[in-house]
Amino acid sequence: MTAPLKRKLLDQQLERLYTAMATGELPQWPATLAAQIEEIVFTRPHGKRREWLAALDALPAIQASAYCLDSGRVQIGQQQDATTAQRTQLYELLQTFIPWRKGPFELFGVPIDTEWRSDWKWARVLPHLSDLSGRAVLDVGCGSGYHLWRMHGAGARQVLGIDPSLFFLMQFHSIKRYLPVAPVHLLPLRSEDLPDFKANGFDTVFSMGVLYHRRSPLQHLQELKQALRPGGELVLETLVVEGDVHTALMPEQRYAKMRNVWFIPSPLMLELWLRRLGFVYIRTVDVTQTTVEEQRSTDWMRFESLRDFLDPVDQQLTIEGYPAPQRAVIIAESPA
Ligand SMILES: C[S@@+](CC[C@H](N)C(=O)[O-])C[C@H]1O[C@@H](n2cnc3c(N)ncnc32)[C@H](O)[C@@H]1O
Repeated sequence: MTAPLKRKLLDQQLERLYTAMATGELPQWPATLAAQIEEIVFTRPHGKRREWLAALDALPAIQASAYCLDSGRVQIGQQQDATTAQRTQLYELLQTFIPWRKGPFELFGVPIDTEWRSDWKWARVLPHLSDLSGRAVLDVGCGSGYHLWRMHGAGARQVLGIDPSLFFLMQFHSIKRYLPVAPVHLLPLRSEDLPDFKANGFDTVFSMGVLYHRRSPLQHLQELKQALRPGGELVLETLVVEGDVHTALMPEQRYAKMRNVWFIPSPLMLELWLRRLGFVYIRTVDVTQTTVEEQRSTDWMRFESLRDFLDPVDQQLTIEGYPAPQRAVIIAESPA
């Protein structure tokens, strides 16, 4: 007979999220949501689920005496909160969740040096946002949730991320284990599954690094609009190419070795898409080329990274000969 699935930690966390939805702290979701999540997290076949849930439940019980969510490294707990044995155990269990892509984090003095310096992206985004204080925010395609913590650190009252990856959900909970009561949540959903929030949508909706993965980018933008309250703010971060309002790149096959890249528009074309969908007060606030210092292999992400995705002779080109990755931040509002 198979041993029962270890799920204590996740059960407690999901309960907190459903309570926030039932009490109106977060926009309400259909009554069927809990069953849908239960099926995705605990039932749908997945070869690694048992191992991941066991690792989560084995994380050592340590009380964090302090945390810091508003500087580059998301830090929870201090070294002196844990014994040496607990820190070793923590380090080993966190290794279960390699590769760590988005971060960096530090738990009780144990650093997780992730593939991406996601704090650099946040530094390009944060100065342009309406103050997040008191806002309910949604981060679509949040990965393992690094930016969710930064959003809460910047004052957001409630933070919900969605991302279909079960692996990222597990990584998220290995962090949240040590800040369990924070109003920061993640659901394993796609933006296609978001309900239509007629009454009370989110104050701010983020979509960072997702648009180019969608075959139908306008549908994605429409989904984001539906998740916003009237007058709410959209924060879009995506790959762009240089060019006029008529320019977009669709790679023949891969782009920087990624198979699932569809449209890379110019910022002007992206602004046009947003206008056509009825967004207002649209502005491109940042365009930056991604560097091999921002995205690189580390001890916590041992696969290939940006350096391997670029032309070895000309770093202005991808290995396929397309313009090297440039990313834009675009802010817009849903009409009031
Ligand atoms: C490049 S990562 C970006 C992660 C993070 N937002 C950031 O900017 O660092 C793209 C993420 O979008 C997620 N994703 C892809 N399609 C999605 C969809 N339809 N709805 C929600 N998330 C999606 C992927 O699982 C992945 O974690």
